[in-house]
Amino acid sequence: MTDVEWWRTAVIYQIYIRSFADGDGDGIGDIAGIRSRLGYLAGLGVDAIWITPWYESPNNDGGYDVADYRAIAREYGDVRGAEQLVAEAHRHGLKVILDIVPNHTSTDHPWFQAALAAPPGSPERARYHFMDGHVVPNDWRSTFGGPAWTRVPDGQWYLHLFDPTQADLDWSHPEVRAEFLDLLRFWFDRGVDGFRVDVATGLIKHPGYPDLGYREEDLLVLTDVPDHPHRDRDEVHAVYREWREVADAYDPPRIFVAEAWVADPERLARYVAPAQLHTAFNFPFLQSAWDAGDLFTVIDSTLRTMSLSGSPSGAPPTWVLSNHDVERTVTRYGRAYTRKHQGRSGHELGPVDEDLGRRRARAALLLMLALPGVAYLYQGEELGLPDHMDIPDDRLRDPIWTRSGGRRRGRDGCRVPLPWTPAPDGAGFGSADPWLPQPPGWGRLSVANQVDDPASTYHLVARALRIRRELDVPQELEWVDRAGSVLRFRRGPDFECVVNLGDTEVPLPAGTVTLLRSDAHAAAGDPLGPDTAAWLRVRGDGTT
Ligand code: NOJ
Repeated sequence: MTDVEWWRTAVIYQIYIRSFADGDGDGIGDIAGIRSRLGYLAGLGVDAIWITPWYESPNNDGGYDVADYRAIAREYGDVRGAEQLVAEAHRHGLKVILDIVPNHTSTDHPWFQAALAAPPGSPERARYHFMDGHVVPNDWRSTFGGPAWTRVPDGQWYLHLFDPTQADLDWSHPEVRAEFLDLLRFWFDRGVDGFRVDVATGLIKHPGYPDLGYREEDLLVLTDVPDHPHRDRDEVHAVYREWREVADAYDPPRIFVAEAWVADPERLARYVAPAQLHTAFNFPFLQSAWDAGDLFTVIDSTLRTMSLSGSPSGAPPTWVLSNHDVERTVTRYGRAYTRKHQGRSGHELGPVDEDLGRRRARAALLLMLALPGVAYLYQGEELGLPDHMDIPDDRLRDPIWTRSGGRRRGRDGCRVPLPWTPAPDGAGFGSADPWLPQPPGWGRLSVANQVDDPASTYHLVARALRIRRELDVPQELEWVDRAGSVLRFRRGPDFECVVNLGDTEVPLPAGTVTLLRSDAHAAAGDPLGPDTAAWLRVRGDGTT
């Protein structure tokens, strides 16, 4: 893989900036904090970092409500610090991906403020979706709850598919399109290697704003509605063809990953068609239950889907087990459920067995990191962190909580600041009280403790990343066994991954040497217990 093609096989670490590392002791993560931990990330062995929005913002939706796309929020630093971070990351061998939020701006954005100050029908209002009417224009719902329309004092309504402080832009407007091309260049000129595209399916709305016909209340919406009026509309692809031209004009070319929740794999493949986005998140993997049949189906259909992209060299698959919008893997897999579940934060799904969840999460990490293509790690996943299930109500910040009047707990549980050291208060995040509290006892899961413990999840991930890099196995995957509750596949002639998702032990295959196992305390040749995985080298001579 040439350096230009790094994005085809990279392991990308997601930094939720507010909770990653606090450089100035105010309890809020920041750019200085990230800069101070680049050595940690390089040592862990990831190839790139993706930083969630750091732009100026009133922060009503974790920064996904951007007021100025060319400025950094003061609490995180400034553009100069951002440039230094990018340069230092590159010196550590790490690429840097930012988040771009094209579907909506904050209502604090100068464009929206100008729209509010201007009359109905004015050019200022034309950059957003403003409608007349005595009643709400249609039945569209905000993802966070309530109608997707809010009325302004002169009686017009504006559209917001998320929080009322996140106004949807009208992408049929040439100024909107031009502005985002310019924004891409602004950050690419500062050395940024790519963008994660927020709500990539949402930009284009049906010009007639027809009713959807049913209530859409969940955070993560799949688009299994034909001719959906505001998701996955065909015209969105023209936007990404323009973006690709901008990215390709750089040396080395810059890259994109789409946040695209779509119901149908063929629709997903359209985002990674030639001359469009390079990669797209594969959310069905994250949504799959801890079940061999379900995981096989998702993995197999993902690989087939990517081959449908029409791209001559194929679009690489991506794999993700957790992010800032869903329950952490340890919590999700530790729940007493067996059937497919959406992995959404804050749903009451029964008690969590954290040890079981961590065992499965460790096995799932080996599964994910053995698959071809790109893998995403969410900060703290390398520490086996669970969600914080008991954040006091008055500390919750997610608009899903605040806007639902306390009916839905929201996503704060997976956004808790990282424990760097086992300090009793704030477990070594910064000197101040972290912006979200950490659960009691998190010090035991801290980076400092795990780095000292060869059996820790940190070392499991670090070893896996080292082996992944050294082996550089072929991108093809061949299933050896997918019967019952075992998943077993080969990558090239020498490398195998086996995952036991059942209740009973399974012997390791003959003719293999253990490279790595998810159960740190087992001996190399021991049978694989329930909820464990192993990476194996195939000897080819039938001996063990
Ligand atoms: C997806 C982001 O991941 C999520 O955190 C945010 O609330 C929505 N997009 C709206 O921007």
